[in-house]
Amino acid sequence: MIIAIDGPAGSGKSTVAKLLAQELNIEYIDSGAIYRTFTLYGMQSFEGNCAGHEDQIAEAVANNPDLISITYENHSQIMWLNRKQVSKELRVLKLTKQVKFIADSPRCRELVNAKIRKISQSYSVVIDGRDIGTIVFPNTPYKFYLDAKPLVRAKRRAIDLNIPQEGEEFEELLKSINQRDRYDMDREIAPLKIADDAVHVDTSDLSIEQVMAVILGHFERIKQSDKVF
Ligand code: DC
Repeated sequence: MIIAIDGPAGSGKSTVAKLLAQELNIEYIDSGAIYRTFTLYGMQSFEGNCAGHEDQIAEAVANNPDLISITYENHSQIMWLNRKQVSKELRVLKLTKQVKFIADSPRCRELVNAKIRKISQSYSVVIDGRDIGTIVFPNTPYKFYLDAKPLVRAKRRAIDLNIPQEGEEFEELLKSINQRDRYDMDREIAPLKIADDAVHVDTSDLSIEQVMAVILGHFERIKQSDKVF
């Protein structure tokens, strides 16, 4: 079973995906963390800048299957780069600004998708990302698209980052969320968009418990439907 959860940054998809994985006792694949690990490798190899080196990064990963690996512990995804755990290094702003070069690279995207598909052959999974329901698993019947107003998403990020929900720093955060939305939605390859058959949930005015109730309700409905064999 493959459950796809797509949506913009801060829409709540990673929280929902983790809870869903626990509830259903399946694995959670954080596809963004895989893109981020490619980015970290590129930054380490090319003086902090992945731009223009995307094909070299893809080639290094393709030629060395151990360079980037993924393990699971208690339903948590652990990212490894050169046999070193890097999960905690992936969410810094410097790296977030670089990840677009990897996300824009067809060769890198193919490699990320191959890793995701390989894990999904062995395990039931819930995967969050931008193109999971549209490109990576277009045939799965379990597809969700989570969304929320940009201001709400910026406030959620501010809480995660422990910064005030107003003022200069917050305005910067809101600006970067809007920029990332535009970048993810406007790019030519695998843009963020709602799959025709996805369940669209606007989480702006919902608590996480309410979002989970909506998602689990649809999950049960889809499971019962004759689309699933
Ligand atoms: O979900 P995240 O913020 O960790 O994702 C990091 C970046 O990776 C995001 O800006 C877009 C890209 N990404 C993508 O293009 N496709 C995915 N399936 C997941 C992430």
